[in-house]
Amino acid sequence: MVSRVIPVDPFDLVIFGATGDLAQRKILPALFRRHCDGQLPQSARILGAARRDMLAAEFRDLVADGLHRGVPDADPDQIRSFLARLDYLALDATEDTDDTTQTTGWQALVDTLGSPQTDRVRVFYFSVGPSLFAPLAEQIWAHGLADTNTRIVVEKPFGHDLASARALNKTLASHFDEGQIYRIDHYLGKETVQNLMAVRFGNMLFEPLWNSQYIDHIQITVAEMVGVAGRESYYDRTGAMRDMMQNHLMQLLCLIAMEPPAKFDPDAVRDEKLKVIRALEPVEPHHIVRGQYVRPTGATSEDLTYRETVGAERSTTESYVALKAHISNWRWAGTPFYLRTGKRLVARSSVINVFFKDAPHSIFGADAGRHANLLTIRLQPDEGITLKVTIKEPGPGGMRLIDVPLDMSFAQALGDNIQNATDAYERLITDVIRGNQTLFMRGDEVEAAWAWTDPIIAGWGARGDVPKPYDSGSTGPGDADLLLRRDGRDWRGIKP
Ligand code: BG6
Repeated sequence: MVSRVIPVDPFDLVIFGATGDLAQRKILPALFRRHCDGQLPQSARILGAARRDMLAAEFRDLVADGLHRGVPDADPDQIRSFLARLDYLALDATEDTDDTTQTTGWQALVDTLGSPQTDRVRVFYFSVGPSLFAPLAEQIWAHGLADTNTRIVVEKPFGHDLASARALNKTLASHFDEGQIYRIDHYLGKETVQNLMAVRFGNMLFEPLWNSQYIDHIQITVAEMVGVAGRESYYDRTGAMRDMMQNHLMQLLCLIAMEPPAKFDPDAVRDEKLKVIRALEPVEPHHIVRGQYVRPTGATSEDLTYRETVGAERSTTESYVALKAHISNWRWAGTPFYLRTGKRLVARSSVINVFFKDAPHSIFGADAGRHANLLTIRLQPDEGITLKVTIKEPGPGGMRLIDVPLDMSFAQALGDNIQNATDAYERLITDVIRGNQTLFMRGDEVEAAWAWTDPIIAGWGARGDVPKPYDSGSTGPGDADLLLRRDGRDWRGIKP
């Protein structure tokens, strides 16, 4: 079945930080692809804004370069017509808000946008460092640029800890309703992450077994091959716990563990996710492993260590983290969730493995062997689902059991529909324009996630804990293997 493209309502979208990496690599290409699919109405306007003084024509050249690089098969006519939608304004988020006499910066933005209109959605996308979120919200407010039909999109990281996330929520709430604030976690926009909900709640097969009675444990892995080059200073202040675990992995955990929401609507889904986060037990210090990548023995000096990459000889920031989490509720009591994420690992692979328990009794006797079911949900790359089932080994010689995979690669099953599936940013931006917050984090959700994360990070500081070294190109520190081995389990391999 071919999915339908339904145009969104007329909108003005202002991207703050429009010359930055995220805007150039993700946001503008996503808008371009929606433009090519005819989803953006004729009158939609996209306004780039950043501190850099440049003409609109120079900004269009910059975007064109990015599109040529990032969307290699882009049609030149489509690029031209997309660029015609773009405009640019230089402005400073921290400019004095009392000075309304200026004809540049914010005043020019006011002149360009005009007064808010009820039949036109206005979106301000904060693709800037977190220190500018509050000043931007203040400026928008002070210049009368917002009304009830205005939405703001806030990129991660949403705060550095609970206190800063709370302060930020408070500032935003003093100018905007919660229904106008779109906190992005781009993992929620990924096609296969949404598929988690379809698999769980669209099938009768899994949900009755989806609890600690039938599930032994669950592993969530987000492994990356990339390192931190290009974002050294941000990353060294942040680390894997804040950069990935507190948001992306936590969101995956919520979707896997939450109760079925009554309907697929923003608050129904977010209420259920929040309950999962609030039911998480504090993580015991010996249930968490931090790692930092080093050069493998024999590798050339071009293979930089984490510390060399960030230029900080004594950095104790983790580029890897693995932990065992417990959710204290009726459904999950006693089922461990093992989560791990790291950079410069052996392969890029985001995958969730659901290990079912052994059948309670083997009628075939001990010699036949036993194989528990395993459901593997591959989020990226090679999106798909595999269910391992037990069958009889073919041939004579009695009843011996083996497991075989029931394997579905979405690319094979769905062909072009999955190849052309919208990228996370395309989906999320159109959701903002449509006013659908289902795939965005609510303020209380983010705060609850920090409330769980903060004591873990504080504990490292208090104990003077330093990350364990692991070879780049490996599967992570050996201690992460021990974390499972102590429980008589093993990580499912990170597939190359
Ligand atoms: C970002 C993190 O949010 O997600 C990055 O800041 C990480 O460090 C990226 O590399 C991973 O996203 P994806 O879509 O490539 O899995």
